Amino acid sequence: MGAGIAEVLARGGLPVVGIEISPEALDRGRGHLEKSTGRAVKRGKLTPEAQREILDRIALSTDFGDLGDCDLVIEAVPERLDLKRQVFARLDEVCRADAVLATNTSSLSVTEIAVATNRPTKIVGVHFFNPAPVMRLVEVITTVLTEPTAVAGVADLVTKLGKTPVTVGDRAGFVANRLLFGYLNQATAMLENGHATRDDIDAAMTAGGGLPMGPFTLMDLIGLDTCLGVLEAVYAESRDRRHAPSPLLRELVTAGLLGRKTGRGFYAYDGSADEAAAESGPAPAVAVVGEVAGITGDADPAAADLVVLGAGAELPDGVKPDAVIAVAAEGPVTARAVATGRPGDVVGLRVPEPDRPLAELTVTALTLPATADRAAALLAGLGRTAVRCRDRAGAIVDALRFPYLNDAAAMLGAGYADADAIDAAMTLGCGYPTGPVADLDRLGPRRAVEVLTALYEESREPALAPAPVLVEHAAAGRGLR
Ligand SMILES: NC(=O)c1ccc[n+]([C@@H]2O[C@H](COP(=O)([O-])OP(=O)(O)OC[C@H]3O[C@@H](n4cnc5c(N)ncnc54)[C@H](O)[C@@H]3O)[C@@H](O)[C@H]2O)c1
Repeated sequence: MGAGIAEVLARGGLPVVGIEISPEALDRGRGHLEKSTGRAVKRGKLTPEAQREILDRIALSTDFGDLGDCDLVIEAVPERLDLKRQVFARLDEVCRADAVLATNTSSLSVTEIAVATNRPTKIVGVHFFNPAPVMRLVEVITTVLTEPTAVAGVADLVTKLGKTPVTVGDRAGFVANRLLFGYLNQATAMLENGHATRDDIDAAMTAGGGLPMGPFTLMDLIGLDTCLGVLEAVYAESRDRRHAPSPLLRELVTAGLLGRKTGRGFYAYDGSADEAAAESGPAPAVAVVGEVAGITGDADPAAADLVVLGAGAELPDGVKPDAVIAVAAEGPVTARAVATGRPGDVVGLRVPEPDRPLAELTVTALTLPATADRAAALLAGLGRTAVRCRDRAGAIVDALRFPYLNDAAAMLGAGYADADAIDAAMTLGCGYPTGPVADLDRLGPRRAVEVLTALYEESREPALAPAPVLVEHAAAGRGLR
């Protein structure tokens, strides 16, 4: 991260001093800088002369004394509080009294770092995202001790460097990691408790949640050790058990399976074949009884391969013995499956976003395994990506996205960050196509309250109770913006 941040500053025309712990580490840093700017030259985004100018602006050293003239120092040593406090104490000795000292920590308390110095008013957090030269978001963290001019100066610099600053208070995980890692940990818990498979959860969040990658692919990319570290730091502050790292995550880290960087994490990256996708057969004959968003079919129920029952619809007479019966419902369907008199042939069906390809199949305790297989193949024949999970509130997509949206709403309600800052954190920092406040306004606070209430009633997890700001806006019938 240090090399990336040095590159951003030098690209902005500023002279930079890069400090490393040893000549070997300095060589590594120089290598990072040359490789990263070299890639930009190869892609035609930088001329070789401009690359040289950028590299010439960065003086590399192992002597902290060389920082004596700097206006701003950004620390990016490993994520350990004792180490950071030690480095800041040293910076405090060598830097000018008016210099601002910033930490790139992802999750440690900036305040705890600040109090290790004699200038706590001049300590800020400046959280770049990886890779720093590419990612546009920078979270600027202010503590109760920081003087406003120090924060404003850093935010102003971030803007001049062509990035978007989001200024927030000193809470573990800030905005982006706080929201992202709660969701990632919950996805891991879902896998661990057998609610759905790794592949189905990943597929659900891309094909139905509209995300560029699923949670397990993303965690493997971030590094499972980093995920564990962020969750531990966030949990230490929030004491919200949803942030307590899932035992499965800890087990993988202990085993040294850290994701892409070690060749194996949730997935293996050794080229071994992944499981084959469900076979898609010819388009099935579908009968829809009642209204079901996203699924159409006007076959005679007596001749249909798939009979879909909308809200309140009963099973018509004469349905073939080998037909699959799909009960479309927001919530669990076991009671309706029993009411059909042939629950072994019944799955639940949810299409969380009719204009996206995902269909979620909920498998009850009575669904026969062959029924679930056949249902997946029939939906694939309708051009849908079918995933399976247990018969629980929210299935996969809503059970994962609404708690995340609720956390964002709670942040907004607490005045921790405004709507633009929260949305910028998730779009620019995490690559989400849209921010959570925009998502809530699209899905509607009323729907959010309904889904969250169902999730809360099922789990009794206090953090899943709808945030007051959502309840208020649902009652008022208006969006959050
Ligand atoms: N990797 C990410 O995706 C990412 C993203 C945002 C923020 N961060 C944060 O940035 C910081 C650094 O993370 P990283 O992934 O670059 O770690 P890293 O381990 O890759 O790099 C840390 C560097 O600090 C050097 N170092 C160690 N002790 C030092 C000392 N006493 N003085 C000077 N240099 C020293 C090491 O030689 C190493 O090159 C952490 O606080 C991390 O949480 C990381």
